[in-house]
Amino acid sequence: MLIAGNWKMFKGPEEAADFCRGLREADIGTVDVVVCPPYVSLAAAVQTLSMTEIGVFGQSCHWEETGAFTGEVSAPMLRELGVYGTLVGHSERRQLFGETDETVVLRTNAALARGLQVIACVGETASEREAGQTEAVLRRQVGAIAAGVAETDDLILAYEPVWAIGTGKTATPEMAQEAHAICKSVLDVPVLYGGSVKPDNAAELSSQPDVDGALVGGASLDVESFATICREASHS
Ligand code: 13P
Repeated sequence: MLIAGNWKMFKGPEEAADFCRGLREADIGTVDVVVCPPYVSLAAAVQTLSMTEIGVFGQSCHWEETGAFTGEVSAPMLRELGVYGTLVGHSERRQLFGETDETVVLRTNAALARGLQVIACVGETASEREAGQTEAVLRRQVGAIAAGVAETDDLILAYEPVWAIGTGKTATPEMAQEAHAICKSVLDVPVLYGGSVKPDNAAELSSQPDVDGALVGGASLDVESFATICREASHS
């Protein structure tokens, strides 16, 4: 069971260090835990969480090692900081920054080749779900990863229905289970659920047989709320 906190564009280095000091002291149960701060706060998080079991992940990484790619960072740069893995293909990157199934594969392969773990994100939009296309979308997104990435123990998927992100509209445990089973039928790796995970729904979601953890946005920004989610998931 893995609980990952995606901070998105929140917490500069000072706030990140404060949060990580708090997290070190918090009761996070028995789950594996990672945090994904913005790039500028990675060093502070790595430093503050050194000598703990809590991992630090980036939020994306480019497929080239160096080059004229303004605004991007590469896998070796993340490694140099002591970062353990990275998110790839988050729906905000897909929707707002032109990420495609093809670039998700490129980024995933570059990260894996450099020894980073990867949490690759997939999920349907509200209109895709309403049109009955959820399964087709998941098969396309996960299928691209399955076709383009060699078998590895360092790859995890996150199923994040876009309509559930930051909306308070969590998928029901049954919806999550159904989607995770589809993802696993295409690519047999652990699958995290993301989308309005909170302290009061974490236990039920993570008790589903094919839910292997959570990718938490808003509720991961507060130590007590994040630690409570970790403890709740520890029971399942
Ligand atoms: P929320 O938990 O804020 O809905 O965000 C989910 C998410 O996008 C995690 O990557």
